[in-house]
Amino acid sequence: MDNSSVSIAQDILNHADIVKVVGSYLTLYKQGRNYKAVCPFHDDTNPSLVVSPEKKMFKCFVCGTGGNAITFVQKYEHISYGEAMKKVADICDYHPAGLDNISRPKKVDEKREALLKCLYDLNLYYQFSLNTPEGKAGLDYLESRHLDTVLRNKYKLGYANKDGKSTIEFLKKKGHSIKTIEDTGIAKMIGGGSYADMNEGRVTFPICDPDGNVIGFSARRLVNDDTAKYMNSPETYLFHKSNNLYNFHIAKEAAKLKGYIYICEGFMDVYALARIGIDAAVAIMGTALTSEQIALLRTLNVELRLCLDGDLPGQSAMMKIAKVLSANGIQFRVVDNQGSSKDPDEILNEDGPKALEEYLNKMVSHNDFALNYYLRSNPLKTVEEKKALVKQFLPILANLNSQLELDSYLRKLSQITGFNVESIRSLVKQARMQARTGEGLKVEKNLFQNFHPEREALQKLVTAERELLYQMSRNKAAVAFYEQNVGGFYDDIYRQLANFMVEYALTHDDMDVSGVMVLVENSDLENKDEILNDLSSLVIETHPDECNKQLLDNLLSTIDSEKNRITSEDMLNDSLKGKSELEKARIIAEFRRREMIKKK
Ligand code: UTP
Ligand code: MN
Repeated sequence: MDNSSVSIAQDILNHADIVKVVGSYLTLYKQGRNYKAVCPFHDDTNPSLVVSPEKKMFKCFVCGTGGNAITFVQKYEHISYGEAMKKVADICDYHPAGLDNISRPKKVDEKREALLKCLYDLNLYYQFSLNTPEGKAGLDYLESRHLDTVLRNKYKLGYANKDGKSTIEFLKKKGHSIKTIEDTGIAKMIGGGSYADMNEGRVTFPICDPDGNVIGFSARRLVNDDTAKYMNSPETYLFHKSNNLYNFHIAKEAAKLKGYIYICEGFMDVYALARIGIDAAVAIMGTALTSEQIALLRTLNVELRLCLDGDLPGQSAMMKIAKVLSANGIQFRVVDNQGSSKDPDEILNEDGPKALEEYLNKMVSHNDFALNYYLRSNPLKTVEEKKALVKQFLPILANLNSQLELDSYLRKLSQITGFNVESIRSLVKQARMQARTGEGLKVEKNLFQNFHPEREALQKLVTAERELLYQMSRNKAAVAFYEQNVGGFYDDIYRQLANFMVEYALTHDDMDVSGVMVLVENSDLENKDEILNDLSSLVIETHPDECNKQLLDNLLSTIDSEKNRITSEDMLNDSLKGKSELEKARIIAEFRRREMIKKK
């Protein structure tokens, strides 16, 4: 930059409001004198980027990226410093004299220019080879994948001759130095100080930067053998696979026009979409979406449509990606695999264009996608994980206005977790109430009162029994403690549940609530639904996780003293009122038993 540009930049920075500049790209949260935002320069989930209006700087305390208003725009938009100056001037509506004359100060990078030129020539050579007798195998292969002349030209597909030395010879003849050829990453040493093309015998897919310059290659084998299916250029001065999205240079315009962009796994998927007229599609070339790729997509400001393969690796990768996008406040939907395990290319070839079009148009929200995923792949094994899933969904369910929608979510959650629909529904009610009273969301104890109003009178006892039952559901030591010290719970259902846990503990090394549920399920008790209901709400609740002797002793002493209190004379008289003869007898017998223990 010359002196005048430096002083113009300084002038802009002095007048620019960095909060306004960063705020036009990111959501800012005020915090004291500063602002915070989710950092776009790494896959941030908590806001860790700080913007200081006083210092006119931004800084991310996780990835370290920092700078002023101009460098922020430069990094965010991947544009030159001069272009960023103009953008900042526009955002802040401050246009100093001389700004328009700044010729975009693109500094000439000779190494980059030489590499670009070499890769350009190389790709022409590959494209040419495809149509020579030696390239016939490659051409046949691409034809077999339904890539006709139009598509081959559009994506500049080619073939690397089997004789890899000829590629190097060609590049040398074109005047590229051996150093430059080495730096493109395509040359491999073959002894005697000579080189060959690492892509030899494969069809070639040029990978371009967002401006359409070839920066690297991926090359596919023609037959199934034990080599890599796709060989990618190594990381070079120009090529960083994870910073780029395949087909971004073509997709970006189409995406802006349509307002969306499909994100697929592979090259063939991008071509499949193109074959049915959708150019707004990129491939992440695998299953990871990096923060650099997210930043690139963000500049489009369009809806992202995740469309990874329908198989389990594709779907679970999308779960991860969806989480990151969500945490970054990025708008997206997910193409619903509808239980299919195919990728878009397979759908087009096997089921036809109409099927692919319908497939791509069936999109679901992040929530629906997550539930479908858990339903279809059943990856949640432990009760803890299931509990966490319910907790995660509670705020979402509490905010639903449609009863139908709520019911459908509840059914799915119940299917996934095995928890009773009504138990989850009562948690949702509780969450709504807490939201109204401004208490914030807590999934806590005493949920059982919703089902058993009679327990209210005995709250202290029932709470202690319930707590002990919770510990028993997770811990064999607690079961043994119960057997040795508690002569049966006062609450009927808890007593039955405790029996099931004792039974389970007899035949298993560790406690597992799902296993206890199976026992209940398979029993022929009339009230087993009620028991299951209680058990599932019990496991969703929050209780102290650490089970030690102290905790158990405390619970026991509460249970004992409460039982004594309840069975005191007054209580006895009260509780006999209106009872059947049989029940009176049971209550009196319990009372006598307690009294005898007390006297001992
Ligand atoms: P897939 O294995 O799903 O390949 O990998 P595909 O797209 O279905 O390919 P075909 O139909 O068998 O030809 C998805 C993407 O992951 C990258 C490629 O970009 C591929 O398109 N990949 C895959 C590699 O880079 N190397 C590999 O060995 C395999
Ligand atoms: Mn695939």
